[in-house]
Amino acid sequence: MSSQDSGPARVGGNRRLGVLISGRGSNLQAIIDAIAQQRLDAEIAVVVSNRPDAPGLDRARRAGIETVGLRHTDYPSREAFDAAMVGELRRRDVGLVCLAGFMRLLGESFVAAFPNAILNIHPSLLPAFVGLHAQRQAWEHGVKVSGATVHIVTAELDDGPIVRQAVVPVLPSDTADSLAARILVEEHRIYPEAIRVILDDGWTIDGRRFIERS
Ligand code: GAR
Repeated sequence: MSSQDSGPARVGGNRRLGVLISGRGSNLQAIIDAIAQQRLDAEIAVVVSNRPDAPGLDRARRAGIETVGLRHTDYPSREAFDAAMVGELRRRDVGLVCLAGFMRLLGESFVAAFPNAILNIHPSLLPAFVGLHAQRQAWEHGVKVSGATVHIVTAELDDGPIVRQAVVPVLPSDTADSLAARILVEEHRIYPEAIRVILDDGWTIDGRRFIERS
């Protein structure tokens, strides 16, 4: 990533989203709802899942959105799986890729295919608690606040310039599950908002800082 990349020029006015999921798809639903309620001016061109039985695919079908199931275990390598996904997204002229509970690492070739045009949502205040079960990691660590992060995806796990964060206090009465549930409410709020910022607002990236044009 260069130190001064301009945003909208990269996404190029293309408002066609490709949403990648692995499971339940509640963040996908939040994006579907934001578009339906005209809080987000975009179109979901396709929803791709590495698990063809992901419940989130039913949410897409109910909304009349095309779905693709690509079982990652059917491919000989990560590169081959990534290339198949890039093909599905390109075929539908996707301009912005949104990872919404997509639980596979993306390789460098996938990231290079959509420069500064892949977003991810992660259920912690990055850079704390990367990887799986971030809410449980935070709860077990005993932090007093956690939250959610939307960031631009690089080839590093849960890394990349931060577009939006939301803070969620950890209550003495919390379990890992109750904390996760409150973080999820914030995820559903900030993900559509971050997508809107990427599509609508001027922005640049300086080092690893995402800077919105005022
Ligand atoms: C969400 O909490 C999302 O932040 C998390 O998986 C969940 C998916 O839920 N993603 C990660 O942990 C990625 N590192 P959903 O399928 O209901 O949107």
